[in-house]
Amino acid sequence: MLGLGLLLLAMGGIFYATAEGIVFVSIDYTDCVSVTPGITGTCAEYVATSSVDTEATVCECNLVFTAPSGFQNEDLYFYYYLDNYYQNFRRYVASIDYQQLHGEGLGNLDPGCGDEDMIDGVQVLPCGYIANSYFNDTFSVQASNGTDVVFNDENIAWNSDVSFKYRNPASGFNDTVTPPNWGGRTVATVLGESGLTNQDFAVWMRTAGLPWFHKLYRKIPGGLITGQNYTVSVQYNYPTKVFNGHKEVLITTISWLGAQNHFLGIIYLAAGSGMFSIVCDRLGCI
Ligand SMILES: *[C@@H]1O[C@H](CO)[C@@H](O)[C@H](O)[C@H]1NC(C)=O
Ligand SMILES: *[C@@H]1O[C@H](CO)[C@@H](O)[C@H](O)[C@H]1NC(C)=O
Ligand SMILES: *[C@@H]1O[C@H](CO)[C@@H](O)[C@H](O)[C@H]1NC(C)=O
Ligand SMILES: *[C@@H]1O[C@H](CO)[C@@H](O)[C@H](O)[C@H]1NC(C)=O
Repeated sequence: MLGLGLLLLAMGGIFYATAEGIVFVSIDYTDCVSVTPGITGTCAEYVATSSVDTEATVCECNLVFTAPSGFQNEDLYFYYYLDNYYQNFRRYVASIDYQQLHGEGLGNLDPGCGDEDMIDGVQVLPCGYIANSYFNDTFSVQASNGTDVVFNDENIAWNSDVSFKYRNPASGFNDTVTPPNWGGRTVATVLGESGLTNQDFAVWMRTAGLPWFHKLYRKIPGGLITGQNYTVSVQYNYPTKVFNGHKEVLITTISWLGAQNHFLGIIYLAAGSGMFSIVCDRLGCI
C-alpha cells in the first residue's frame, strides 16, 4: 500500500528493542500523515493552522507495528512521550490552584494561578498554565481484524492524587469557564463524567521534572500476539511544532510509574550503547 509506505517514511520511525528484559516499541508520530478524509498532509500541519474550534474535524493517524515476541501474555503499558517541553518551568509549575482542584474556594480569587485565574470576571476552572495546556491527543489500538485491543485505564495516575488531590465542586461547574485552549468545551466534554478526578488529567497535572517525559496512558492486560500487526489510532490534537517538540508512543512490558527517569535511563543507555537487539526496523532490517 503506497499510503502506508509514505506514512512510515514520514514518521520518525519505529524502534523495537529489548534491554535487560524490557521489551518495548516506540513510535515517533510527530509528523504522521493524516488518514482523515478531507485532511491531506501531516496532522502537525493541520493542527498548526486549525483554530481552537469545537466543530473542527479531528486529524487522525494510523501507526502500524508488529508485536515483538516479548509482548505476548504480558501486561503492557502504553505511554505517550513529549520532548522539548518545559513542564518544570517555574512559572508553569506554580500555575495551579490545589484548592480549586479539590472543589473548594470557588468564587474566591486565589493567587494559585496568578493572571490565569479569571476570564472576563469569571473563574477559570481548572485554572492555570498546566490545565490550559492539557495533553489532548487520544489513542486506541486495533488488531489487524479491526477489533479494539482492550485498554485498561484503572490506576494509571497516582492513587494519592486521585483520592486526595482532586474533587469535583459540590455545586457543579456553573459560573466557571474552562481554560482558553479547551476551546469552550465543558469539563464534562473534555474530562468525561469523572470530571476533575479523570486519571489522564491527574497524570498530566503531575508535572515532569525534565523537559522530556513519558506519561502513562493505558495498560494493555494480557499483551499482544507475537508477529501480529497492530494499529495505534491517534487522534492528533496537540501541537508540538511551535516549540520544536516531538511526540511518541511507547508500548512496554514494564511500568515505571513514579520512577520513570530511571526507566528512561535504561532505555536511553541501552539504545546508546547498543546493548539491545533490534528486533525489527520498519524501514529496513528484519
Ligand atoms: C488541544 O490542545 C491544544 C493545546 O492546548 C489546543 O491548542 C487545541 O485547541 C486543543 N484541541 C482540542 C480539540 O481540544
Ligand atoms: C481479532 O484479533 C484478535 C487478536 O488477533 C483476537 O483476539 C480476536 O478474537 C479477533 N476478533 C475477531 C472478531 O476475529
Ligand atoms: C447550573 O445551571 C443549570 C443551567 O442553567 C441549572 O439547571 C442548574 O440547576 C445549575 N446547578 C446549580 C448547582 O446551580
Ligand atoms: C504485517 O505488516 C507487514 C508490512 O506491511 C507485512 O509484510 C506482514 O505480512 C504483516 N504481517 C501479518 C501477520 O499480517
